[in-house]
Amino acid sequence: KKVVLAYSGGLDTSIILKWLQVEYGCEVVTFTADIGQGEELEPARKKAEMLGIKDIFIEDLREEFVRDFVFPMFRANTQYEGVYLLGTSIARPLIGKRLIEIAEATGADAISHGATGKGNDQVRFELTAYALKPDIKVIAPWREWDLNSRTKLIEYAQQHQIPVPKDKHGDAPYSMDANLMHISYEGKALEDPWQEADDDMFRLTVSPENAPNEPEYITVDFEQGNAVAVNGERLTPAALLTKLNALGGKHGIGRLDLVENRFVGMKSRGVYETPGGSILLVAHRGIESITLDREEAHLKDSVMPKYAELIYNGFWFAPERLALQALIDKTQENVTGTVRLKLYKGVASVVGRKSPKSLYRMDYVTFEEDSVYDQYDANGFIRLNALRLRLGKLARG
Ligand code: ARG
Ligand code: SIN
Repeated sequence: KKVVLAYSGGLDTSIILKWLQVEYGCEVVTFTADIGQGEELEPARKKAEMLGIKDIFIEDLREEFVRDFVFPMFRANTQYEGVYLLGTSIARPLIGKRLIEIAEATGADAISHGATGKGNDQVRFELTAYALKPDIKVIAPWREWDLNSRTKLIEYAQQHQIPVPKDKHGDAPYSMDANLMHISYEGKALEDPWQEADDDMFRLTVSPENAPNEPEYITVDFEQGNAVAVNGERLTPAALLTKLNALGGKHGIGRLDLVENRFVGMKSRGVYETPGGSILLVAHRGIESITLDREEAHLKDSVMPKYAELIYNGFWFAPERLALQALIDKTQENVTGTVRLKLYKGVASVVGRKSPKSLYRMDYVTFEEDSVYDQYDANGFIRLNALRLRLGKLARG
């Protein structure tokens, strides 16, 4: 009996680690990934060693995260419920996939995670795991144990010699999840949806009020729907998002406060900061505006909410997500060019766009005299489009 645990090195997953050893008597393999959460990973290794773990996996997954998860999602301009950029949702299938790969490499028959029984994350981890390894066993301690209060958790840690950080006595201020895409904050003071978040909660962005009074202009280059350079400098996917995060953070871009619908049926209030992703979304729509055919653009926009829902609900490895991805990716073949943006006090706006594949034709659209378009053609175009409206009015009054 062996279980692979998604281990952050924090208090909760350290307690889970111990609990798995005690309650299940099984060997625990830990998996800790750098997906850009901005924390040192070596302390997690030390802690795992201290807890008697032999197989410790520590991996830098930042490039894979952005290249194979974040970028495909951005090709669809994905927003859940109109606004959420899915920073947590899109990281879960990657963690789930690595848990399964490590289970296979180490001969483990189970995986475990620290998501609660109330949330979306449990669903995302487990749907991923079952999709990739149908016979895997899943242990979700939060759904099984009776350590259902902060006090009981701390007691359990103290009983088992798990170090409790002093400031964690009692509790952390928010439930946070951080990666290269975003930081999410839930719980505590935010549970009252009428209560505004404290400004000192935010870690990636300044408030728009405190952002520079001067705008900053940047360019983003795209190739086939993916951002490849900022200000003319070619960057790897993770380096590019890191760069946009710094720019967005400086100008107070990408804060979001919303009440969202969780898959399990309840509403929850979350506050997010997604500085680079917010710039990327605007930039990508900017380059699409001159490179996509109208119907191509409208079609992909019409399936976007469904695609977003699939990612939010954890169906990254489901056939319908892959089918939609194929459609979206087909539309991106000509999405190549450069967007110029202005960053100013919480807003990223497109102020220029150009592309070798541009469909924009000044010679057609000009208000000046042209020699390519016959305005008389619009007579028949409008008369035939109006036909059913006229017949309808005549018949029905
Ligand atoms: N509500 C967001 C989502 O479902 C964020 C979840 C944050 N998860 C966490 N473990 N703190 O995508
Ligand atoms: C959790 O419940 O573990 C975090 C929130 C979520 O998954 O939605």
